[in-house]
Amino acid sequence: MNEMINKNVYIETYGCQMNLSDTEIVSSVLIQNGFSIVNKASSADVILLNTCSVRENAERKIFERLTHLKQYRKKNHHLIVGIIGCMAERMKDRLVGENDMVNLTAGPDEYRNIHELIKQISQEETTSFDKLRVALDEKFFLDKKILETYDDIAPLRTDGVSAWVSIMRGCNNFCSYCVVPYTRGRERSRPLKSIVAEVSDLMKKGYREVTLLGQNVNSYKCPETNSDFPDLLSAVAIVAPAIRFRFMTSHPKDISDKLIETIGRHENICNHIHLAMQSGSNSVLKNMNRKYSIEHFLGRIEKIKSVIPDCSLTTDIIAGFPGETLEDHHATMKAMEIIKYDTAFMFRYSSREGTKAFELNDDVAEEEKIRRLNEIIHLQQKISKSQNSLEVGRIHKVLIEGRSKKSESEWFGRTDTNKVVIFPYKEAMSQGDYIKVKITGFTSATLFGEIV
Ligand code: SAH
Ligand code: SF4
Ligand code: F3S
Repeated sequence: MNEMINKNVYIETYGCQMNLSDTEIVSSVLIQNGFSIVNKASSADVILLNTCSVRENAERKIFERLTHLKQYRKKNHHLIVGIIGCMAERMKDRLVGENDMVNLTAGPDEYRNIHELIKQISQEETTSFDKLRVALDEKFFLDKKILETYDDIAPLRTDGVSAWVSIMRGCNNFCSYCVVPYTRGRERSRPLKSIVAEVSDLMKKGYREVTLLGQNVNSYKCPETNSDFPDLLSAVAIVAPAIRFRFMTSHPKDISDKLIETIGRHENICNHIHLAMQSGSNSVLKNMNRKYSIEHFLGRIEKIKSVIPDCSLTTDIIAGFPGETLEDHHATMKAMEIIKYDTAFMFRYSSREGTKAFELNDDVAEEEKIRRLNEIIHLQQKISKSQNSLEVGRIHKVLIEGRSKKSESEWFGRTDTNKVVIFPYKEAMSQGDYIKVKITGFTSATLFGEIV
């Protein structure tokens, strides 16, 4: 099993930052074991789809993609196609058994030996795909499963400016609508020491921005020292002053004063908090098992605004959760108007098998869900635009991320508050530089400015 095989692997990533970060882990494992990573499906011997299960749509996209990949299989009968990520965990062997495109599955905790799995499949002496399909032997990974953090695996990063650093995996919150606790298992944190070491190494390599990742970073607990998330934030902010830090995401039920004060205290911790509200109605929040009331939520927002007056706030909202009445829906819109998020990710409720909410009566009609969703999207656009209008004349420290997609003569970067800014290109600057930009114009999604 130990001889190297050189195969070209193409990985396509769907879903959240966790998956993007995991793709870097998978790439790293594969390269260490003699594989090459390619950036085109057409030149691959192995295609891996790193998948998301959070909404039905996300899964549908993958099935469509699998159908589309048939053309590559026609050209190369030995092409191996794997589903990794959250869908793999949710559907396991069912995928391998029922979809003749899929040769292998590996869930988020099963990447350490993914090269072995690919080898096992490619060494099957047959030309028929049916026989090539090998389901994942769960026992193969069982010992690693519970505690997996990939702490010792250096992710394969390609960006050079911004990096994700996964600080914990899994989720214990069991919000009633959500598949994540089932696809990513229980919470476990990486030791603070190793995160700090990774961050200082990133600074030495010239990285300028790091986003600390976890499904609920507030639950971070160093297994060695018991340090909490604010302790970790302070530690990285001090050890890497040339890097600015972001994190996502925090659960509103346990965003502490200590965390808010820590953000306020350090210049290089971004003034941006993503706090998923989900709904403005207490009865809906209760049915969602979110474990906070809207009053508690508003109290936290007030605290944030009093400690960090220019803090940007963003959120997630679900429209049409089971039992949501028009009154509940209006309560959500009212909360949006009070809080004034800079942006929001807004979704129509999607019932997921295996979750608690799946057992509830999905009683808001599809058209009504869409109507409510459109209403909140429309409201948010109005709020985003008016929030952005307040930016005109302000000066922001912007990290240059690259050339604007629309024009070679413009740069594209982000403010500390995570807003996209477009400004005229200048020669002496490059990607990864911090510069001061004065805001001169805006839309609901973008700021425009000039270098000062
Ligand atoms: N851990 C993160 C959320 C990860 S999922 C947090 O709690 O902040 C990202 C978002 O997807 C959620 O906040 C929620 O708004 C949305 N979402 C999750 N499950 C959903 C479902 N079944 N239907 C619609 N939206 C959902
Ligand atoms: Fe899902 Fe809730 Fe965990 Fe976020 S906190 S991942 S919404 S269960
Ligand atoms: Fe999707 Fe899994 Fe992330 S379900 S949102 S890829 S944790």
